[in-house]
Amino acid sequence: MKWILVAALAVCILAPTADCTSETVAWCYHLPSCNASTWPKISPQYCNGTRQSPINIVSASAKLNANLTEFTFVNYDNKSAMKAIENTGETVKVTLNSGVQISGGDLSENYDSLQFHLHWGNGSSVPGSEHTVDGVRYPMELHILNSKSSYNGNTTQAVKDSTGLAALGFFIEVMPGNSSGKPESWYNLTSYLANITTKGQSVPIAAGFSLNDLLVGVDRSKYYRYLGSLTTPSCNEAVVWTVFKEPIKVSRDLIDLFSTTVRVNDSMSEHITDIYRYLQPAQPVSTQNNSVTTNSASTACFSLGLLLSLALGSLVCTYSLSPSK
Ligand SMILES: *[C@@H]1O[C@H](CO)[C@@H](O)[C@H](O)[C@H]1NC(C)=O
Ligand SMILES: *[C@@H]1O[C@H](CO)[C@@H](O)[C@H](O)[C@H]1NC(C)=O
Ligand SMILES: *[C@@H]1O[C@H](CO)[C@@H](O)[C@H](O)[C@H]1NC(C)=O
Ligand SMILES: *[C@@H]1O[C@H](CO)[C@@H](O)[C@H](O)[C@H]1NC(C)=O
Ligand SMILES: *[C@@H]1O[C@H](CO)[C@@H](O)[C@H](O)[C@H]1NC(C)=O
Ligand SMILES: *[C@@H]1O[C@H](CO)[C@@H](O)[C@H](O)[C@H]1NC(C)=O
Ligand SMILES: *[C@@H]1O[C@H](CO)[C@@H](O)[C@H](O)[C@H]1NC(C)=O
Ligand SMILES: *[C@@H]1O[C@H](CO)[C@@H](O)[C@H](O)[C@H]1NC(C)=O
Ligand SMILES: *[C@@H]1O[C@H](CO)[C@@H](O)[C@H](O)[C@H]1NC(C)=O
Ligand SMILES: *[C@@H]1O[C@H](CO)[C@@H](O)[C@H](O)[C@H]1NC(C)=O
Ligand SMILES: [Zn+2]
Repeated sequence: MKWILVAALAVCILAPTADCTSETVAWCYHLPSCNASTWPKISPQYCNGTRQSPINIVSASAKLNANLTEFTFVNYDNKSAMKAIENTGETVKVTLNSGVQISGGDLSENYDSLQFHLHWGNGSSVPGSEHTVDGVRYPMELHILNSKSSYNGNTTQAVKDSTGLAALGFFIEVMPGNSSGKPESWYNLTSYLANITTKGQSVPIAAGFSLNDLLVGVDRSKYYRYLGSLTTPSCNEAVVWTVFKEPIKVSRDLIDLFSTTVRVNDSMSEHITDIYRYLQPAQPVSTQNNSVTTNSASTACFSLGLLLSLALGSLVCTYSLSPSK
């Protein structure tokens, strides 16, 4: 019956309910008795599955799929969309008000955005993203969790559907230069960390910044797509993954706050660090052909075209740009 407890906790991470008992420890990242290598035993029906996340994305192996169009983001510009920020003991989670949604992007229907949370290593120099691209691990990764709108926020139903959840993954990397406290949206978000230093603490988020403000600088038309799972027990294989290619750039001091402010338990316990699952076996990944959508790429194509004739030019262009997709 242990797995039922674990399943209940997984749903707690998706959407906090009255059933969520914050004291119970069923899985963890760092104790030998419950770390990630024990998850296939704690929750064998899914964590031991064949469609598990996270994965290393091999950019050159991603199949082109023209159906991977842009998303529509509803209420991502709303500066009151964030409800509360919580230290769960495993991560920092921000719950969202109802009415925040995504659609498009080759998803089968509308999905409600329920919460986002973060994965990190140990400061900006010890990376802790969950997905890697061509073997590169980024300092942090933000996950926005979405559930099919037809389930009306009932994640118990959503995790039983192989596409019941849609996760948006955004890498976070260090902003170049020597800036601090940037961007302002991340300064605003991280200012709450000092209020949730111990496990179970939660404070409301005041109006002032939006999801779009946090996702600043990312071209959201460029992403990888694959079918995978939740990256924590019970690892349900119910997730349509979207991993955006461009990272959010956040100044080093703000990235460092995550691994130096929030703790796994009480004020005497250690800081929350290295909260990512190890890589799982590869899955088929697709991406859209956007090699000619950026200005620099089309300029390059055009110059080659002038030199080599238009037809040959576009061939060379497609060939030479594809490895960087
Ligand atoms: C989990 O703990 C075991 C036993 O201490 C250790 O051998 C293993 O490396 C740990 N695995 C992870 C993923 O932390
Ligand atoms: C996980 O699956 C592998 C291969 O199917 C199997 O050998 C192993 O015993 C399973 N482990 C658990 C804990 O179920
Ligand atoms: C794109 O969508 C069409 C219509 O739904 C479908 O028939 C086709 O298989 C899709 N292509 C890919 C690569 O998934
Ligand atoms: C923004 O979100 C708040 C809180 O959910 C909501 O009351 C308000 O109507 C939303 N604004 C718009 C323009 O949708
Ligand atoms: C994280 O980094 C800090 C500062 O470099 C170091 O003191 C600490 O031991 C590291 N923690 C882990 C778990 O590696
Ligand atoms: C979610 O759906 C399940 C299965 O249909 C049902 O038993 C449960 O009561 C629902 N939960 C909520 C909170 O509505
Ligand atoms: C970054 O800022 C620090 C402190 O202000 C300064 O000492 C250092 O030279 C700066 N580095 C660069 C590359 O600008
Ligand atoms: C940051 O928070 C302040 C105070 O609530 C607000 O005025 C400002 O617009 C916010 N800026 C961003 C970019 O989030
Ligand atoms: C966060 O903590 C500061 C300092 O203790 C306090 O002034 C502020 O009201 C707290 N904010 C929230 C939202 O609880
Ligand atoms: C967390 O801290 C509380 C209070 O000190 C303690 O009773 C409990 O055993 C701790 N839990 C873990 C998992 O360390
Ligand atoms: Zn996550």
